This record gives sequence, C-alpha cells and structure tokens, in this order.
Amino acid sequence: RETRFVNELLGQMTLEEKIEQMSQVALNTPDGAKAEAFAQAGVGSFLFITDPVRINKLQHIAVEKSRLHIPILFGFDVIHGFRTVYPVPLAMAASWDPKAVEKGQRMAAREASAAGVKWTFAPMVDIARDARWGRIMEGAGEDPYLGARIAEAQVHGFQGSSLSNADSIVACVKHLAGYGAAVGGRDYDSSDISENDLQNIYLPPFHAAEKAGAGTFMTAYMDLNGVPAAGNKWLVRDTLKGQWGFKGFVVSDWDAVHSLVVHGFAKDDADAAARAANTGIDMEMTSHDYTDHLAAEVKSGAVTVVTIDEAVRRILSVKYRLGLFEHPYSDPALANAQFVNAEQRAAARAAAIRSAVLLKNDGNVLPLQRPKSIAVIGPLAASKVDIGGSWSLASHPADNVTVLEGIRRRYAGTPDAVKFSKGVEIERGNWSIFDEQFPEDKPTLHTDAEKKAAFDEAIALVKASDVTVMVLGEAQNMNGERAARQSLDLPGQQEALLEAAQATGKPVVLVLLNGRPLAINWAAGHVPAILEAWYPGTEGGNAVADLLFGDAVPGGKLPVTFPRSAGQEPLFYARYLTQIPHEPDTRYWDGSSAPLYPFGYGLSYAKFTTTNLKLGAASVAAGGPLQVSVDVKNDGAVAADEVVQLYTHQRAGSASRPVRELKGFERVTLKAGETRTVTLTLDTKELGFWSAATRRFGIEPGTFDVWVGDSSASSENHGTFELTK
Ligand code: IFM
Repeated sequence: RETRFVNELLGQMTLEEKIEQMSQVALNTPDGAKAEAFAQAGVGSFLFITDPVRINKLQHIAVEKSRLHIPILFGFDVIHGFRTVYPVPLAMAASWDPKAVEKGQRMAAREASAAGVKWTFAPMVDIARDARWGRIMEGAGEDPYLGARIAEAQVHGFQGSSLSNADSIVACVKHLAGYGAAVGGRDYDSSDISENDLQNIYLPPFHAAEKAGAGTFMTAYMDLNGVPAAGNKWLVRDTLKGQWGFKGFVVSDWDAVHSLVVHGFAKDDADAAARAANTGIDMEMTSHDYTDHLAAEVKSGAVTVVTIDEAVRRILSVKYRLGLFEHPYSDPALANAQFVNAEQRAAARAAAIRSAVLLKNDGNVLPLQRPKSIAVIGPLAASKVDIGGSWSLASHPADNVTVLEGIRRRYAGTPDAVKFSKGVEIERGNWSIFDEQFPEDKPTLHTDAEKKAAFDEAIALVKASDVTVMVLGEAQNMNGERAARQSLDLPGQQEALLEAAQATGKPVVLVLLNGRPLAINWAAGHVPAILEAWYPGTEGGNAVADLLFGDAVPGGKLPVTFPRSAGQEPLFYARYLTQIPHEPDTRYWDGSSAPLYPFGYGLSYAKFTTTNLKLGAASVAAGGPLQVSVDVKNDGAVAADEVVQLYTHQRAGSASRPVRELKGFERVTLKAGETRTVTLTLDTKELGFWSAATRRFGIEPGTFDVWVGDSSASSENHGTFELTK
C-alpha cells in the first residue's frame, strides 16, 4: 500500500515539486508570510518551528492549499527532551541502562509529537574519545558497544512500537560519520580515521541504529579522510544505503550542501547540488542549492530523474509511515497537557538519579545525615539555565529545579538552614541563547572588589555551616556545537574557591554539572565526596538532593574516561598492547598517562563484591552464545545498583586487538546483604572485527581473555575460552 501510494503521488509531481520536497527550511523567527509561502509551495520540511499553534497553521496551508496536499515534516533537535529536559545524552549513557534511555526518549517523543514536531535530529551516535570536543555531551561516550546499545534504545524510544503511533517521532541518526574524531577536538575540523577505527569503532553505533529501524540519517559537516561527508558516496550510497540496506532518507547537516563549495570539493553551488544529490543526500538542510540549481542539473544530465525520484520516494515513505497523510495536525491542547506535567517530571527525576556517578566518597560523607546548616556554594548552584545543559532549546528554564532549590525544599520548615553564595562568576563564553530569557545569568561581579567580596562571603558561609555543597562545573554553553575547550580544568576561579572551602576544614561535597570529562585532579585528591551529576535537566535539583540525602543511591558508571589533563586526550580504555606493556601508564615524560577515573567506573553508597566467574563452556563455536556468570554481593546497608561489565581480549589473530573491549553489561539492583548470580550472554558475533590485514570483517577463532567486573580497570574475575570455527 505504501509503495502504491507513494508512486501514485510521485507520478503527479513536477520536477520542481519534487525538489521542494527535498528541501528543508529553517525558520526560528516568526516570519509568518515567508513560512506560509514555503508551505504553499510544498516545502518538504521546516526546522526549528516548535509552537504547536504555528505548526498547525502551516500544516493547514500545506495540506489544504498546496497543489498536492503533502504534509510538512516538522523537525527539531529533541536531543534530551522537548519542554521537559532530561539529562544530556552522555549522562543517560552513564546510566548503563538502555531501558532508562529508551524511556527518556519516549517521554520526549510524547511532548514533541503532541506539539506537531514529528522528526528529531537525534540520536547523535558519534563515538567521542577526545573530551575537548564540545559535542561529546550529545553522545554515549567512547565505546562502540555501549554506544550501539544506547543508540538502539534511543531509536526505539523516539519511534515507539510503530512510527505511525500518534506519539512517535522519527529518529535521525547523526552525524555520518566520524564527527567525534574531529582533529584536536576542534568542532567542524577534519576527521582523519583509519579504516580499522572507522569500521570497528565509529561505524558500529550507526549500523546498530539502522538495524533498530531508524527512519532517517544525517551526514556530518566535516570531511572524512578528505571527502566531505555530504559528498561521500562511499559512506552514503555504498555503505548506508547499499551494504546496510537503509530504506529511510538522508538529510544533510546545516548548510552542508553549500559547504561542499567551502570545502573546495564542488566548484560552485550548482555542482554542490548535483554532487550531494548523487551522493544520496535526499534532503538539503537550510542552504538552498537544491531549489536553486537541481532542476537545471537534471536538465543538463548531471543528475538523473531516477536519482530525484529515489530521494522523493524515500521522503514521502517516511511521511507515510509516520501517518502524516492521515493525521497531519498536532493537538495544542494535548501538547499543553503533556508539557512538564507530573509524569514528565517524575520520569525526568528518575532519569537524572539513574545517570549520576559517584566519583568519590571518603569516610562516607555521603549520604548527608540532615545537617543542621548547609552552605550551597558555586556559580552553577542556582542557575536555571545551566542545569538544563545545551541543546534544550524548546525548554523554559523557569521550569528547571536548581540544586539550591532541590536542597531548600528539604528544609522548608527551617529555611535559614540553607544559605547560598555563588562565590565566583563562571565565564560563560561569548554567547548564550538564553541570555535574553535569563538576564540574571549574566555576570554580576564586575570589579575586583565585587569579586573579592563574593569570594569572601562564600568562604564565610562555609565556615558558618555544618556541611558545604559546592556546585561547580561548566556553563551549559561550554558544551555542544562550537564549544570545544583547550583546557579540561574547572573553568575560571572555581577551583580556587573549592580549595579555599576545603581549607576551612569543614566537610565539602562537590557536585559537578558538566557535559564532558573534566581534569579534576585537585578535587579528586582533596575533596572527600564528588558526585558527577552532569547536566541533569528539569528535575536535576530534586534528583541531586535525593542522591545527596540518601533517598536515592548513585549507580551510574562513566561512559567515558576522565583524564588528568587535556594533554592526555584522546584518552580511552581500549588501547592496544605494545612495547613495555607492564608500564602502560608511563607514556609521558612529564606526567602519568593513566586516567583519573577509568571508563566504567562509579561508586555507590553500598559496597559490592564480584566473585566466582564461571564460563558456560571452555570453548564455543564462532557465532554461538557463551554464558558468563558471576556472583555479585551487596555488602552495604542499603539497596543499590551495580553495573556488571564484561570485557574480552583476543590474544592473537590476523590483526592486533585492543587490550580490552566491552562486550556485555547489565545494571542490577540488589538489596542490602543480597548475593545474586548474574549471567551475561556473550554473543560471540560481537567478537568479530574488521581486519586491516585481511581487509574484511570476520570472527577469528582463537584464545580469548574475559573479565567481569565493576569497571574497565577491574582485574578480578578473569578467565579464558577458546573460540572455534
Ligand atoms: O541537528 C543539528 C546538527 O547536529 C548540527 N547542526 C544543526 C542541526 C539542526 O539543528
């Protein structure tokens, strides 16, 4: 039925109408007349329109007044929530809980779809191994296996059980491919990736998302090994649409078709349009090379009608599968009822709790035993904007609960018990899209005297309080697009403030709000308790308070290695064994090469021991499953979560393999004192790899090490097995 419907529609379209469908227009300003003209002309998609009433108005024009009545696909970056903000994707990956990730995106899809936004530019599945890159916050971190599981979960969350459900939105897997490997972590710079890394590290999450049924893909801005992604036929035609058999449509990134000229790849915009279309870029985002030049390129023979038809067929099919032809309109009343309602808030709070990682807790400073007085200090403690993180453009920061508010709510009867001082200003870079909405987040400390007075006031509060909670980290706009950093230290004077607070001798708890690994060496060495809360979203303040006071127990694990300095980047656990293997941490003359906190690391208020590794068999045929079990014991006094992690290493083969690779995990909840046998099924198909020696993908028989533990650095529970043909 879908094919017949789409073909019939296609048969009625002029070349110009087809090309309109292949274009997406960005309108984030309420330019009514312009938008209406596009709608009437039969534009394929709008980007950045989120008001449900406006969406409906434009949709009515498209459906009732355009010649072919084709509904518009409204797209937006629903990255970690729509009106309700969920923890940023890196944080959600730290939950190591695909079900929680799926739920978060399901809830986001409900709000967005009710508003009429049926297309999200997510998930971002770019593996990122360089914390300087600002968009590391939008992905699942450094590991392809974890990344693939999180990618699938996000696709399922957005798209629901069927794309045609009223509360489903279509996912857009981005940015094909290798954006996370931008040289030096500099956003938009080239990615130069060996085929070994491309096939084994960067592409697997894309492939997993495609297999999970993602409806659309977005190409990257940069060039991959010299060929711009939007003109990279090998990536789009051969790999995605050819080898993987992707049936949905591909959109370029913002202006990226025109950028083929900027790259020095296409000779002019007409050439860019032709080459992008021939690459398989079905829809052009924001630049207008398609509408300006594609018809002429078809007439000249540079692009065939078959190519155009294929692109339009893909776009119409996605619209059809979304049910847009039958139900094109949104429901503003439903949208209002969905926005930041009690269910959304509860889900956002649960997600924020699940994604927090306890980095340190010496002397069981946490959980707090309801101290009589608390100083809440730091430039991020009371910021409604920063707690939401970047890419939360449809949210209203006024809805967000800050850490200060979360703590204050617990002391409602004794409000004087909680005192706040920001202490220092955070430098928030050149711009923030929220500047106008939240002028109070603009700097207030200008002169040296004002700065000194604020610093002194904060330290006086620390001295006068039983416990201090310092909320430090990065302003939200230090992460995301165009937000690379050269330093991974706490920005500005925050560390000086932390040192002064710690020097008072009063107990200090550090809560981090940030979107990338930070080099917090001093804090790790001196502050007794550190909670990594990331950007936890709308309910972040309540979630952090739940964790600080022990109503919830942290159970997240790092999805990315924390370095000691920016100079160590890129830093990741899955290295290769090489010369002097017994001294892997002495690779630098002027400092350790060991991470500060390894991938997979995270503490709990309970204490877990993992013992008694058992393998289901000493040998297993390639492709078959191997049962791997351990006994996990909660030695603590509270119910808590542990993430059981399975790593393997292939000892010999046609090419070297990393020292360890994650191949399975499960987050389990154990009561106090409980012991449970946890069995993970190792799918030995996951042991296959693309070999630079044979230049093909294969599962190679041989001896494998296996470890099951609580981080990538855990060395207990080691075994071996043979993989046979
Ligand atoms: O989806 C984004 C992409 O990740 C970066 N450029 C802009 C797009 C649309 O907002």
